[in-house]
This record gives sequence, C-alpha cells and structure tokens, in this order.
Amino acid sequence: MDKLVIKGPCKVSGKIPAGGSKNCALPVLFATLLSKDEHTIKRVPRLADMDSTMKMLVHLGAEISQKHASDYGCDWTVSIKTLRNKEAPYDLVRKMRASNLCLGPLLVREGSTRVSLPGGCAIGARPMDLHLMALEKLGAKVVQEAGYIEARIPAGESQLRGGHVIFPFVSVGATENVVMAATLAKGETVIENAAREPEVRDLCEALISMGAKIEGHGTSKILVQGVSSLRGMNFVIPPDRIEVATYLIAAHMSGGDVEVMGAKHGDLTHVLDLLEATGAKVERLENSIRVSSSGKITPVDITTAPYPAFPTDIQAQWMALMTQAQGASVVSEQIFENRFMHVPELVRMGAKLKVRGNTVEVEGTPGTLQGAPVMATDLRASASLVLAGIVAKGTTEVKRIYHLDRGYESMENKLRALGVDVERTVDS
Ligand code: UD1
Repeated sequence: MDKLVIKGPCKVSGKIPAGGSKNCALPVLFATLLSKDEHTIKRVPRLADMDSTMKMLVHLGAEISQKHASDYGCDWTVSIKTLRNKEAPYDLVRKMRASNLCLGPLLVREGSTRVSLPGGCAIGARPMDLHLMALEKLGAKVVQEAGYIEARIPAGESQLRGGHVIFPFVSVGATENVVMAATLAKGETVIENAAREPEVRDLCEALISMGAKIEGHGTSKILVQGVSSLRGMNFVIPPDRIEVATYLIAAHMSGGDVEVMGAKHGDLTHVLDLLEATGAKVERLENSIRVSSSGKITPVDITTAPYPAFPTDIQAQWMALMTQAQGASVVSEQIFENRFMHVPELVRMGAKLKVRGNTVEVEGTPGTLQGAPVMATDLRASASLVLAGIVAKGTTEVKRIYHLDRGYESMENKLRALGVDVERTVDS
C-alpha cells in the first residue's frame, strides 16, 4: 500500500491544472447506458473511481477506449450496443458506492435489473431508500432481496411512466438516478427538492446533449419530458470544484499563492467568499481561480448543507485550514453522521479540536502542527491530513492513500509542482 511522505512546512505556490470532476464523470459515464450509440466523453479524470466505473461498464457490456490524455484528463469513447449483464454485482458495487447510479439507466434500458446494495461506508450508513422511492413514483416495482435491489417495469408495460417525486431531503445520487430514468419514461416527471449541485446540473446537460428534454436543472424543481430514445453524447467533463478548493485552501494555509487553471469560480461562490472572509486574496479570473495569502487566517465558522451552501466534501479541508487560524471556530457537519474521522488524526498532529455531536470546536493556533504518521478512512479526510502535513513541522506520513487516489489525480505531482516536498513510497 502506498503512502505520501511530506516534509514540512512548505509554501504552496504556482500554477496547476484542474482535473475533471469526479462526481460529474461518474453519473455521466453511467448515463452512457441510456443509448446504444457511441459516446465521446472528454476530460475524464484519471482516478481509481474511474477504473471502478470502467470495470462496471465493461461487466455490463461496454466497449471503452481511452485517448488524448492531457493535463486536464483523458478522452473516453464508450459504446454499449448490447448488454452482456443486467446485474451490478456486490463485488463491483462495494468498491464504489456510486456504482448504484447504474440502477436507473439499466432499469429503463432493459426493463429489469438487479443492483447490489452498497452497504454502509466510512462516513455513514448512506441508505438508498430515496433512490427506490423515486423510481417507484415512476411506476417501477422494486424489491430488496438478499442484499440486492431488484427493480422492474411492471408486467404488460414497456416503459416507466412520468411521476411526481418530492424528496423529503436533498440527495445528489437519488436525483441523478431518477432524472436518468425519467428521460426514457412515458410523459412528464416533476422532481421537487431536487439536488442543485453543479454535478446534477452538468449530468442534465449531458443528457440534453443526448436528446433528453429537461428543464429546471440547477434549481430544486426539475421537469423531465420522457422521449422514446436517446442518442450518443459528446460531452466535456467540467473541472472538479472539490479538488480546486483543496489546492486553494493549501495556498492560504501555507501563506502561498496558487492559480488553478481551468477552474470555474461560479460553482465555488460560497467557498471563495468564505476564503476571502478568512483573509485570503481571491481572484476570480475567466479561466482560472487564484488565491494568494499572507498566511494570516481569520477564523470563520462553517456548516455543511446541500448546494449552494458549504459542501460536505470540503469540510475536512476547511477544518485543517482552521487549525491554522488565529482563534476559535466551529465546523458543523449536517449531511453525513460520521464525517469527522480526520479529527483524531489532526489531534495527533497537535491540532486543538473538540467534537460535540455533529460539530467540532477548533482552537486555531498558527504554526503548531507537528508531522506524524497518520491515516484516514475516507477520501476528503485524507486530503485534510495532506494539508495539515504541508504546514506541519517535520515529516508527515499519510498512509492508505488509495482513498486519495479515488478523488485526486496525481496529487503528489501537483503538490510537487507547487513546491511541496512530497514523495509517494510503498508503506512497508
Ligand atoms: C454525493 C457525492 C458525495 C457528496 C454527497 C453530498 C457523488 C458520487 N458523491 O454522494 O461526494 O459528499 O453527494 O453532497 O456524487 N441518503 C438517504 N437515503 C438515500 C440517499 C441518501 O438517507 O436514498 C442520505 C445520505 O446518507 C446522506 C444524505 O442523504 O446523509 C445526502 O446523501 P447524497 O446526496 O445522496 O450523497 P451521494 O449521492 O451518495
């Protein structure tokens, strides 16, 4: 298993490209199941989650080729003329929860499917009840049996029918699954309290490029008019706002100056406003975002919530930033029940943190973190430990970095390009 060895403290400065968005690429790649035509998807990030997606699509019958690798990702051609399997097995789903995004597309393409329940994960139970409720509103017959979801279009019918879905709370994945299913349902589907995340909006844009009729994406009410078939897509994956924010936070934490090329500030408005409130200089440029910092960080509280509020996927990195602020702040997690796994590890590095239910009180003290061997059990928690290691004095070893590899493309190369003393080595 690999680890990152960081010798700090380092100043993070320079220019790097933004990778393609993981959370956009995942549903877009599963949306290829909705048409038998060939699809071209550009700027797919090179991440472990994309390897898992490829395995799942190939298992289902896809032919995939990759070309034109650039700093911004890789171009994929995907063609699924005939399905070899219509079951998403446990062994593939357990490696990546987001594989459950094949449920809606497989159901409407084949009329029935069997998808393994993903089970819990490090950050919480993460059930699928909302996905199932939404598909049932479109007429699907759904049963759970032996760890699998079995879903089918009712006997005697050839399509799902449009329905009215009202989510009791926001779910990104459930919104994506039902939108994909609704594109090929008969009639109109109305989705209320839909996720407004940019990745949902971008998935809808990809579906529209396939001929889907969708309105309201990017708002909490999405309308889908079902069509009889969809064509292949030609779609460019937008930059990853979570990756971008992670490097901008690194710049501020270390008193550095980072410009992330290709980054779009419109999807990071709230985070950038808060970074400014902490004292960073933020330049929202046409094709990049630049953050420069004197290293003086004012404490600012955050509460995670669905978009456009503060993303849960940046909570851990923000907490690392706040350990370097001059004074106290509070970090509140409202989306997942168990997303503070980075806390004990940051404490081992000298951070002063107190967990109280779903909040953490951070007593910011600049320059006090010490390098240590650390390990996290999820992707963004691991990123926060890397950030801490960059500003800590001495050597930090971040273990189990397969979590990082799920969501950050060649993180050590990008950090090295920004002046960080970091090596990937094999953990003995
Ligand atoms: C997506 C993102 C993930 C991000 C999360 C919240 C992808 C691949 N992943 O995950 O990075 O952290 O959104 O922004 O895009 N829930 C239920 N029942 C359900 C579905 C969800 O109770 O059927 C709960 C979850 O446990 C969680 C909350 O709803 O507490 C939000 O989860 P959701 O938005 O569905 O997250 P994902 O789509 O899994």
